[in-house]
Amino acid sequence: MKILITAGPTREPWDSIRYLSNRSSGRMGYAIAEAAGTLGHEVTLISGPVALQPPKGVRFLPVTTALEMEKACKRMFSQVDAVIMAAAVADFRPARRVAGKLKKEGSRILSLRLVKNPDILLGLGRRKGSRKLIGFALEAADGLANARGKLRRKNLDFIVLNGPGALEGERASVTVFGRDGSRRDWKSVTKQEIGRRLVALLEAEQEAAGR
Ligand code: CTP
Repeated sequence: MKILITAGPTREPWDSIRYLSNRSSGRMGYAIAEAAGTLGHEVTLISGPVALQPPKGVRFLPVTTALEMEKACKRMFSQVDAVIMAAAVADFRPARRVAGKLKKEGSRILSLRLVKNPDILLGLGRRKGSRKLIGFALEAADGLANARGKLRRKNLDFIVLNGPGALEGERASVTVFGRDGSRRDWKSVTKQEIGRRLVALLEAEQEAAGR
C-alpha cells in the first residue's frame, strides 16, 4: 500500500521569531512510519518540526504550519491508498503575523487574535473515495463519546483515542474504534507496536475490499 502519515506539531508564527505550538514530540507518527516501511509499504511522512530523524526509506516532506501541512496532504492524497493522521495540528493560528520582532515597549498586556485553521482530516474525509483513513483523538475527558463523534464526523475507518500522557512518552495506552462499531484496547504498548497494529488493520481492510 501507499500510506501517507502525518506527525508532529505545527507551528503558527505571530512574528518572525515567535510561534504558538503544542507538546507533540512526533514519536507516534514516526514510529508508525517506521513500522509501515518495515512491513513493506511505500510511506510518505509529512511532519511538523520535531527533534527526530525520519526513518530510512520513507519519502519525507517537512512542513511548519497547519496551512503548509494541509497543502502537502492535499497534494499527496490522490496518490495514496491510506492516511494515518497522527499530527497534532494547531487548531488556531494568529490572525496577523507581525513582520520582524514585536517590541514589548509600551504594552503591559498583549492580545493575540487567533483564527481557526482548516481541519485537514475532515477535508480529506470528504473526498476519501476508496481510501482508508485513520485519525487520532487526543482527549483529556469524555474521551469515548468524543472519539466516536470524530470517527463519524470526519468519515474515518478507525480512530485512535489517547490521553495527554501519550504526547511525549515511549509507550501509550490507546483505544481504537472502527467504523463497524469495533473497539480495541491496547494497554501500555510501545508506539512501534501501535504502528504495527494500525498497519495490520489497514492491511486487513485492504484484503477484505479485494475479496
Ligand atoms: N486534525 C486535523 N486538522 C486539524 C485538527 C485536527 O487534521 N486542524 C486531525 C488530527 O490530526 C487528528 C484528528 O483530526 O487525527 C483529531 O484531532 P483532535 O485535535 O483530537 O480533535 P479536533 O477534531 O481538532 O477537536 P478538538 O480539538 O475540539 O477536540
